[in-house]
Amino acid sequence: MEFTTEYSDKTDAIIAMFFDTFSASEGAEAAALIKALVTDMLTSLGSDDLHVFLTIEKGEVVASIIFTPMIYADDTRTVVILAPVAVATAHQGKGLGQRLITHALQTLRDRGVDVALTYGDINFYSKVGFAPVTEADAQPPLSLQYPHGWLGQTLNAGPFVPLKGSSRCVGPLDDPNHW
Ligand SMILES: CC(C)(COP(=O)(O)OP(=O)(O)OC[C@H]1O[C@@H](n2cnc3c(N)ncnc32)[C@H](O)[C@@H]1OP(=O)(O)O)[C@@H](O)C(=O)NCCC(=O)NCCS
Repeated sequence: MEFTTEYSDKTDAIIAMFFDTFSASEGAEAAALIKALVTDMLTSLGSDDLHVFLTIEKGEVVASIIFTPMIYADDTRTVVILAPVAVATAHQGKGLGQRLITHALQTLRDRGVDVALTYGDINFYSKVGFAPVTEADAQPPLSLQYPHGWLGQTLNAGPFVPLKGSSRCVGPLDDPNHW
């Protein structure tokens, strides 16, 4: 099993893994939405706007996470959002998701990223350092359907200092269906 950020020859496999995983866990509608999101991210965003991390086992993509930048108008810090995340159904529950996210956060820290945000289930994301943040701590780019799922962590030492100003996400995430 290996981690890689080299994804350019694996886009079809990544899209298929997200689609199959979400089909099994969340149903057809969510799977179609995630497939469109991942396809849009991988095909429309340049390398400055896309941090893709993969776990490969026997040549197969078994886990994938994608980070994209968030711009806070009045804040100088570098901020990313983790979305989406998938571990192939047959490989879930073995610590793979946590290992890949931990590895990715360390890599992003080394690249100078200050803050990571995500939007999801605190029961899972708290295992990799995320904690709930309020909309005053970090204004979301669109209105949140599940404000309790708005999560963040600093990647440098110290507490989470509120991010200043309004925020902007990349185009593929700029859709109320994802929030
Ligand atoms: C969520 C997901 C990425 C977790 O990856 P994983 O490799 O299965 O998880 P790990 O083995 O690293 O961690 C397992 C722990 O996370 C928790 N967990 C796993 N999936 C969870 C989920 N969907 N919701 C809440 N908690 C979850 C488990 O309770 C488990 O905790 P425990 O060890 O105390 O029992 C993976 O199950 C997945 O891809 N699910 C379908 C797609 C999805 O839901 N993506 C995330 C959208 S926010």
